[in-house]
Amino acid sequence: MRLSFFLIAVLLVVQTTVAQPVVSIIPQPVKLELKNGTFVIDQQTAIRYKDRNLKGAAELLSSTIRSISGIELNQKSTDKKLIVLMLANDAELGNEGYKLSVKPEGVIIKANRYAGVVYGIQSLLQTLPAIRTNAQLQVPCMEVTDYPRFAWRGMHLDVSRHFFSPEVIKEYIDLMAAYKMNTFHWHLVDDQGWRIEIKKYPNLTQVGAWRVDKLDTEWRSRAQAKEGEPATYGGYYTQDQIKNIVAYAQQRNVTIVPEIEMPGHSAAVLASYPKLSCTQQPQLPMTGGNYTNMASNFCAGNDESFQFLQDVLTEVIELFPSAYVHIGGDEVEKDSWKKCIRCQARIKSENLKNEDELQSYFIKRIEKFLISKNKKIIGWDEILEGGLAPQAAVMSWRGETGGIEAAKMNHDVVMTPGVPCYFDHYQDDPATEPIAIGGFNSLKRVYDYEPVPKELNEQQAKHVLGAQANLWTEWISTPEHLEYMILPRLLALAEVVWSPGSTKDWNNFNERLRYHFKGFDQKGLHHSKGNFKVEIKPIVRDKRLYASLFSEAYHAEIFYTTDGTIPTTSSQKYTSEIYIDSSLTIKAIAYTNIYEKSAKPSEQSFAIHKAVGDDVVYEYPVSKYYKADGPNTLTDGIRGTTSHDKNWLGFNDNDLMATIDLGETKSIHRVSIGCLQNYRAWIFMPQSVKVEISADGKSFIEVGIISNKISSDEKNSVINDFVVEFKQQKIKSIRVTAKRNICPKGHSGEGQPAWLFADEVVVE
Ligand code: ACM
Ligand code: ZN
Repeated sequence: MRLSFFLIAVLLVVQTTVAQPVVSIIPQPVKLELKNGTFVIDQQTAIRYKDRNLKGAAELLSSTIRSISGIELNQKSTDKKLIVLMLANDAELGNEGYKLSVKPEGVIIKANRYAGVVYGIQSLLQTLPAIRTNAQLQVPCMEVTDYPRFAWRGMHLDVSRHFFSPEVIKEYIDLMAAYKMNTFHWHLVDDQGWRIEIKKYPNLTQVGAWRVDKLDTEWRSRAQAKEGEPATYGGYYTQDQIKNIVAYAQQRNVTIVPEIEMPGHSAAVLASYPKLSCTQQPQLPMTGGNYTNMASNFCAGNDESFQFLQDVLTEVIELFPSAYVHIGGDEVEKDSWKKCIRCQARIKSENLKNEDELQSYFIKRIEKFLISKNKKIIGWDEILEGGLAPQAAVMSWRGETGGIEAAKMNHDVVMTPGVPCYFDHYQDDPATEPIAIGGFNSLKRVYDYEPVPKELNEQQAKHVLGAQANLWTEWISTPEHLEYMILPRLLALAEVVWSPGSTKDWNNFNERLRYHFKGFDQKGLHHSKGNFKVEIKPIVRDKRLYASLFSEAYHAEIFYTTDGTIPTTSSQKYTSEIYIDSSLTIKAIAYTNIYEKSAKPSEQSFAIHKAVGDDVVYEYPVSKYYKADGPNTLTDGIRGTTSHDKNWLGFNDNDLMATIDLGETKSIHRVSIGCLQNYRAWIFMPQSVKVEISADGKSFIEVGIISNKISSDEKNSVINDFVVEFKQQKIKSIRVTAKRNICPKGHSGEGQPAWLFADEVVVE
């Protein structure tokens, strides 16, 4: 079925390169068969729903049709031109699936539940214009059978760091719903603002929702508030507004999971009720990312903390019908607990080993309360530390490790790894983008994401409820910027969590996306035009080095130079891999005739030496998280930079021992290996580097061992080459051994294995 749709799409592309496929539904339906003809929506068209419960869905369709055409769908019974919404009993469709049948004489949307009917409507709407039009509304005839791969298709939004009005929240929900995302994780509270009215604790919104306005200053550099300065920035949602938003979301099959953070990230509470912190000192609401002398944790030794949270949660669960409440749990800096007599007394009275177990005690106590109220908890993956609460679900954000661990313990998990699910990261070259927190999660990286890790067996994989993108807003203060960060990455994630993994097709997705871009443009929705950065990757084949150039941008042409000049559209056009036989720098730009964008050229230098392209064998495995360009990373002629996520091979469980086969006997006098230190990322220089050489590839002799001279207290990132020189001689193989270090005294990982990062073994 899919094939026929795909062929039609391809045929259209062959005829004219800019034509849209006839139907460009995102996420890609499970089965879609296009038929001849169209169904025309006009003044004679009537809508009928066969179950009272479908009234909300019918209204959703009618109001959208009204807004794009002025047509009022007739609700009176007529035999002609009906759109019928109905409930069915069809095991294939599950809870959220639907069948959509469009024939010239009528449309039928069938589903087991309300949710599926809404999704049938969303698919139908994606075939119509996005904005008000005088053109005839024609829906292509088709038969669709569709259902989601995952039950949790989430989008998170942080409204604490910057506040967004109820109208913007509804727009966010509309965008989610249009792409069949069903879970809105509403991060309502954090250090820099409390955003939900709690009747029992009015200070939360009178004090905790308002801060001194520092919008004109970069987040991390914002000065702290001073006593007497007016607190004018902020806002909160009243309980009435929340009820209204919850109902709005329900109509669109979006469940809102509220997050009430604890025990950390609670500076806004402690500004409102200082008695709940360990020091009980007053503090002003935070203005940004400056945490100096700020209390951020609830005191875990004070029963009033639990009473407060239970009272708050009691009001929260009255407002949100979702099965889950998110209780946060991330990034608890436990120093305040170490210094607090009440917290230490609690550790003693509860027979806890340490502060990790105190955190676990905290979460378990809250879980018990929420279970008594018929709610389940979900928390960030730190809730694993010190012991997971018995029925908690885990949201895996620090990579997938926490999610894997929890699923193996038979707990449900939602995958939200920073790469690629953090939508506050850049989506194109930072030089061409609005300022963001950092990182790089391009559209294609999101599209390529697979939420079920290979480490899980079939039974464990069932615990992966789905995936979610997180949008933290430290650097996002306007609705326009917010739209820009989720569009179009939301659409890529929607296809990841809805469509069957087997039908993933980047080019086809990119093709369908054109239609949606048109709608965004018409509606004035801000969106990224895609990632124009050219990726320059080394390829080693038959001991030769090539560079491959790639751009995610739709139908992009790539132009490049190798003589140091800036490429233009008159430069050499890239058609196939570039053979590299001398040291050079490739500079490249991507260009499309649909969206021109003056991107900064991408640049990559290649430094040729005597081992470039040669095979490398590793005695111990490379970390799966830091594989760079594969085994040839150490012989690809590319040096790393202080950015540790590119061009560096990482080792954590063992030393690096790499044997390079030079292929033939070569005259060599010098071998060096480049290593990286990044204090904050737990990456330290090796203790020592040893070089051995072999004339026959079998027996090796040591020619030098170099000890590390870079201080492990150095906090700035540094690259150091460990160089071994020896008498020139003819050799066939080289073995380099770098001994892994441990994290130094005073470091947060003190005594634990450090990461060892290497980029190139330069042989001369
Ligand atoms: C998080 O990003 N701190 C969950
Ligand atoms: Zn305390």
